[in-house]
Amino acid sequence: MNPPLLVTCGLPYTNGPCHLGHLRTYVPADAYVRYMRRAGEEVVFVCGSDNHGTPIVVSAEEAGISPRALSEHYHRHFDETFQRMGVMFDRFGMTDDPATHRRTKAIVSELIKNGYVYKRIVHQAYCTKCKRFLPDRYVEGICPHCGTAARGDECDQGCGKHLEPGEIKDPVCKVCGTKAEFRDQEHYFFRLSEFRDFLLSFLDNVKGTINAKNYAIGWIKEDLHDWCITRTLEWGVKFPGRDDLVVYVWVDAPIGYIAFTEEWAEKAKKDWKRYWCGDNRVTHFIGGDIIYHHSIFWPALLRGAGYGVPHAIVASGMVKVDDHKFSKSRGYVVWTNDDYLDKGLPADYLRYYLLAYTSHTKELNFSWKVFGERINNEVVNIFGNFVYRTLFFAHKEFSGIPLRTVDPTIIAEIRKSLVNVDSLMRDYEFKGAVDAVMALAAFGNTYIQTNAPWKLIKTDREAAAKVIANCIQIVKAVAMLIEPVMPAKAQMCWTMLGYQDKLADHPVSEATEPVVETSLMSPTPLFTRIEEPQIAELEALLQKRVAEANRKMERIPVVSFEEFQKLDLRTGRVLAAEPVKKSNKLLKLQVDIGGETRQIVAGMQQFYKPDELVGRDVVVVTNLAPAKIFGVESNGMILAAGDTASLLTPFKPVEPGTKIR
Ligand code: 2FM
Ligand code: ZN
Repeated sequence: MNPPLLVTCGLPYTNGPCHLGHLRTYVPADAYVRYMRRAGEEVVFVCGSDNHGTPIVVSAEEAGISPRALSEHYHRHFDETFQRMGVMFDRFGMTDDPATHRRTKAIVSELIKNGYVYKRIVHQAYCTKCKRFLPDRYVEGICPHCGTAARGDECDQGCGKHLEPGEIKDPVCKVCGTKAEFRDQEHYFFRLSEFRDFLLSFLDNVKGTINAKNYAIGWIKEDLHDWCITRTLEWGVKFPGRDDLVVYVWVDAPIGYIAFTEEWAEKAKKDWKRYWCGDNRVTHFIGGDIIYHHSIFWPALLRGAGYGVPHAIVASGMVKVDDHKFSKSRGYVVWTNDDYLDKGLPADYLRYYLLAYTSHTKELNFSWKVFGERINNEVVNIFGNFVYRTLFFAHKEFSGIPLRTVDPTIIAEIRKSLVNVDSLMRDYEFKGAVDAVMALAAFGNTYIQTNAPWKLIKTDREAAAKVIANCIQIVKAVAMLIEPVMPAKAQMCWTMLGYQDKLADHPVSEATEPVVETSLMSPTPLFTRIEEPQIAELEALLQKRVAEANRKMERIPVVSFEEFQKLDLRTGRVLAAEPVKKSNKLLKLQVDIGGETRQIVAGMQQFYKPDELVGRDVVVVTNLAPAKIFGVESNGMILAAGDTASLLTPFKPVEPGTKIR
């Protein structure tokens, strides 16, 4: 007998809200779980929030609250958002809860006992101004492997490699911007390098997506260092026997998977060891950016502590927005609540889009336009149309479902879809599976169109009844098969077919069983189109966010007061003005700056007539280095605002040459 299936999703950090990047992993995992359950498997689905590590400490410091309070806030946010998206975990825990602390201590102690942990001095970045060591995201610098700007523990913009403490070059304190220095500090290391052969054979056998294997095999073959597993932080799981050190967040985060299973098992009165010890079917759904941690660190930790190793690792491809790299700071982001659910859009539409857009491992390039097109053309026009036509006709002409033997060719078609969907789902080919269900709906649409029961009924009522009975069987099958993708809409369809129970409780194999006598409801359309103006509004919102982010990113250097004081700013009075010869932009001005007349060239010809300027009081930078502009000497600069060169002038009358302070 197969061991039970345990499915997990990468844990979201509790320092920001849920976005499309998260959903790309969670929605397929949920669809997989829903399908496998209805294919007769025993499945437990756990996840939780990732509360430790520097990202949370840094964000909590910025918000002026404790890391625990910040974590609880975002924990609730994720829990609620996942439910709104129909992602239903059996347990959604917190890594800062006692179960993860306990399991982490047990596993680390086991690793120590088994001789896999040792002490070593490392040169850790230290900020002399903040007077503290700078673990992970407290420090920024240059990646030693590829030379790109990187975070302390990860080259997130460049080669994607994990960085060990002390590896980053030119470290700078993230909090105060001071150049950091390296100081010696004692840390604990895990003997990862001893697991090379084990990992290569593990990766040879592990199921899941090919990206999760191949990248990891490449990295191991290149180099496999021992791994520093402690950090100098207050917040986290204490390293056994050391009150001044916590374990690195990438140790306790995956251990959360076990702890959440324990929390679930205690309530459900099950034995968690069945899921984690010995032969198991632990299946990790993760984002493509955390393959290293799940395909290398994690199996080695489990192995070293005597636990079973993962059965499958399923890694999703990257998400782009409007052809740009997904980036919160640059505004290329789609927030699950603000941009989608709170706009009244159905969770099922986004679930469909995420699953049907492309293969799970490929890049998903989100755009509102394509989103609208695919929902309207596929979900509304094919699926919705077929269901509505069938149910409407049955209701109108037969006041219910005409119970007739369904044609064997129709049953064969449904069976073919069942077999197809089953093998695609088990291969984590979610797009293929959705396409197979939609192909069945399209088959139904063509079938009803070709057989035209609305014509047939005029001459042969029985023949029309048979056609519609066939269509009803297809509607039932499509509803059953689309449930993992669009659970709410599938349930609506099921209820309209007259069933009063939960579709999710029925195995998919029932799709070929005859529809029992039900009281068919008067149908309403399952789906509404997404109209052009709504898409335009959503696109505009995204563009506005990108523009705002761009403004924020324009780097304005900070000057000290001493530097500012070097500028000599004075009021001046324009005595004369004339255009610079051969220029249609420049004016040559004579400006009284208090006992001295300065010649200044200014780009103002388009905005002012020379006469308009004479007699005006202006603000002049008097100690700017002289320059020749269009062959004319310029000794200073006149301050003006914006693209129309609006002159800055004193509010109250002052003498020329008055110092600006
Ligand atoms: O990269 C991340 O967002 C991490 N919080 C994922 C942790 S997954 C696991 F191992 F716990
Ligand atoms: Zn500092």
